[in-house]
Amino acid sequence: MKRLMVKNIGQLICMSQHENMRGNIREKMNDISLLTNAAMIISDTFEWIGSADELPSELQCDETIDMEGKAILPGFVDSHTHCVFAGDRSDEFARRLRGVSYTQIASEGGGILKTVSSVRNASIEELADKGIALALQAVKHGTTTLEMKSGYGLSLESEIALLKAIQIVRQHVPIRIISTFMGAHDVPPEYAHDRQAYISLIINEMLPAVKELGLAEFCDVFTDTGYFTIDDSIRILESATSLGFKVKVHADELTAFGAAEMAARMHAISADHLLFCSNEGMQAMRESGCVATLLPGTAYTLRLPYAPARNMIDAGLIVALASDCNPGSCYTPNMQTILSLACMNTGMSMEEAMTAATLHGAYALTRENECGSIEVGKSADFIVLDTDSYTDLIYHFGVNHVQQTWSMGKRMQ
Ligand code: NIG
Ligand code: FE
Repeated sequence: MKRLMVKNIGQLICMSQHENMRGNIREKMNDISLLTNAAMIISDTFEWIGSADELPSELQCDETIDMEGKAILPGFVDSHTHCVFAGDRSDEFARRLRGVSYTQIASEGGGILKTVSSVRNASIEELADKGIALALQAVKHGTTTLEMKSGYGLSLESEIALLKAIQIVRQHVPIRIISTFMGAHDVPPEYAHDRQAYISLIINEMLPAVKELGLAEFCDVFTDTGYFTIDDSIRILESATSLGFKVKVHADELTAFGAAEMAARMHAISADHLLFCSNEGMQAMRESGCVATLLPGTAYTLRLPYAPARNMIDAGLIVALASDCNPGSCYTPNMQTILSLACMNTGMSMEEAMTAATLHGAYALTRENECGSIEVGKSADFIVLDTDSYTDLIYHFGVNHVQQTWSMGKRMQ
């Protein structure tokens, strides 16, 4: 691998990690470790980072790249997406704009189940093509680590097809792609009258098969009214944990359901959504170190109240931001839009939002020692903006400010 010198960096936002994640999270999130007039030496990892005046002469480089005073920050870590699917739900979107609710559409057999029927009729290649297209759009907008979930198959065969499609995406788009099994996204129509039998299928067949094939690292459950109860979720997550999966929860997205408390009790790495999270839920998450992954694009698209990011950060929760990119409740893989929504609607500062979309996303994927910040030894994943000031990402909104995306030391665009 070539060694490159990257010089003339106007602002280098390193987002350096803190010793531990206890204590004043607000202070830590506002500290973005900004260097001006900076330089870096990289291979597939960051080898040296510092002021341009202090470049070490002993590290011989094969090439020098002049960044012309631009701002550089870590690539975004989008820790929650549903980017492999098939079909189209723009008709539901149009109905929602006319006032029909997400829950109403779901109760008529639309929503997740509409995508499930499209997925069951699609080939693995078609599913992968959708995932590749969305992953490439994500890269264009600065994402270098991307989590993708199954959950639109809801049968052993179709869930495995989705996870295999994610593997194909990984071969075609050389960024860090992490897969999550989400057979408990909804109950498929053939089990509508015997929900417990579907849960048994997840526990007895799907989870062991996914494990055996090595197709997913995490297991996620949609714990909410009309989806999986607290007791169902505990059963599924306990089985997943005993098989060696790390766990996540779609928690309190549509109703106050006590899902955040349950996620904390189950030692979930993250609880996501949290629009209706209770104070007890927040406290339980803080005590267990469970990351609060907020998805403001979903609140925006569903016109729901935003998750209380300000209270969460002030209460000491590790808040991350992700896109939730999916065909129903938030159809964008663009993390810059997510940053804007978070700052304008949830009371986050620009620095907090940037930390949440990079380093804290890495925590939500247990990748904090690998990515999410610009630090020696970490993967050389970074983005170069078209401006000399990181504040343009949020202040000068609605424009793609990402000029270059670098993943593992290689320029992708
Ligand atoms: O994260 N909450 C569940 N799953 C998705 C929505 C999926 C869909 O509508 O297709 C979400 O919002
Ligand atoms: Fe989701």
